[in-house]
Amino acid sequence: MRCLVTGAAGFIGSNLCEQLLDLGHEVVGLDAFIPYYPREIKQNNLIALKTRSNFTFHELDLREDNLADATNNVSVVFHLAAMAGLVLSWKNFNLYSSCNLLATQRLLDSLRNSESLKKFIYVSTSSVYGKFSSGNESMPTQPSSPYGVTKLASENLCHAFREEFNLPLSVLRYFSVYGPRQRPDMGYNIFIKAMLNGETITVYGDGQQSRGNTYVSDCVNATIAAINSPDGETYNIGGGEIASVWEIIERLEKITGCKAKVKQEQARAGDQRSTGADISKAIRDFGWQPQVSLEEGLTRQVAWQKSLLVRKAA
Ligand SMILES: NC(=O)c1ccc[n+]([C@@H]2O[C@H](COP(=O)([O-])OP(=O)(O)OC[C@H]3O[C@@H](n4cnc5c(N)ncnc54)[C@H](O)[C@@H]3O)[C@@H](O)[C@H]2O)c1
Repeated sequence: MRCLVTGAAGFIGSNLCEQLLDLGHEVVGLDAFIPYYPREIKQNNLIALKTRSNFTFHELDLREDNLADATNNVSVVFHLAAMAGLVLSWKNFNLYSSCNLLATQRLLDSLRNSESLKKFIYVSTSSVYGKFSSGNESMPTQPSSPYGVTKLASENLCHAFREEFNLPLSVLRYFSVYGPRQRPDMGYNIFIKAMLNGETITVYGDGQQSRGNTYVSDCVNATIAAINSPDGETYNIGGGEIASVWEIIERLEKITGCKAKVKQEQARAGDQRSTGADISKAIRDFGWQPQVSLEEGLTRQVAWQKSLLVRKAA
């Protein structure tokens, strides 16, 4: 199949492209290198991909560039491009609203007369549920950050396109994804880096907030398996092992062999209190289940971050 992956230079998008190529698909990657974190990191995510014969890359901004070449003759679209992370979304709403909503509208519009399209997967987030996000897809959607609001608006826009133009579409709500290439603004990346460098970690709030952690390869496998989901459906995608911030720090201390130096600050606006995906629907509809334990996943992320430090020092 010819697959388009938007956000291909990002954390999850680059891992998804690699797995699609390994499965024998042709992959068109698209990314605008939005400088929310350094372009160099995203370019590194693409290095191995660019050596693969079935991979082509388009540096395009979904908000303004012509998308005809990138969307031409694609069978499956995985729409991951977005401004992720909730903290910055309070400060730069325009960037979030344009990269999450306008970008999605332009992509959907460019595909609405497509004769080749078999599936459009919109990647959303547990943040659409808000502060308490533990349960199944019938939980109320009450986002507590501008990020969650823009992702929910995009979900709704996707459904409008599906209803009006018969776009074959499903929505996946990812829960706290971690593993190699995790974005540098994300908690576990920051914790591991600080521990390896002997720096202080900031814990926001009481540290009892918990996350339903999803290892990146599990998330990627769910995303590919969802090609076989019925149109119009929404699925929680989560790893199943829930842990609080303190539990994660304790595990990371054991894995890294470094004692964490911790300071506490006030909880941040919009932070989720608890997330945990009930994935019964994904199991039922497309037979996906997570495989990587939290211990194994964190060990792999630590190994990846250590390798980056070694490379930097060389
Ligand atoms: N990482 C997580 O834990 C997590 C959790 C829930 C949902 N998600 C969702 O998964 C997706 C991928 O997240 P990620 O963590 O890999 O983020 P990421 O920032 O690493 O990747 C997103 C990519 O999208 C690109 N992009 C943004 N706006 C664009 C535009 N206008 N045109 C073209 N490219 C654009 C960025 O340059 C970036 O490379 C996002 O949709 C995010 O909302 C992630």
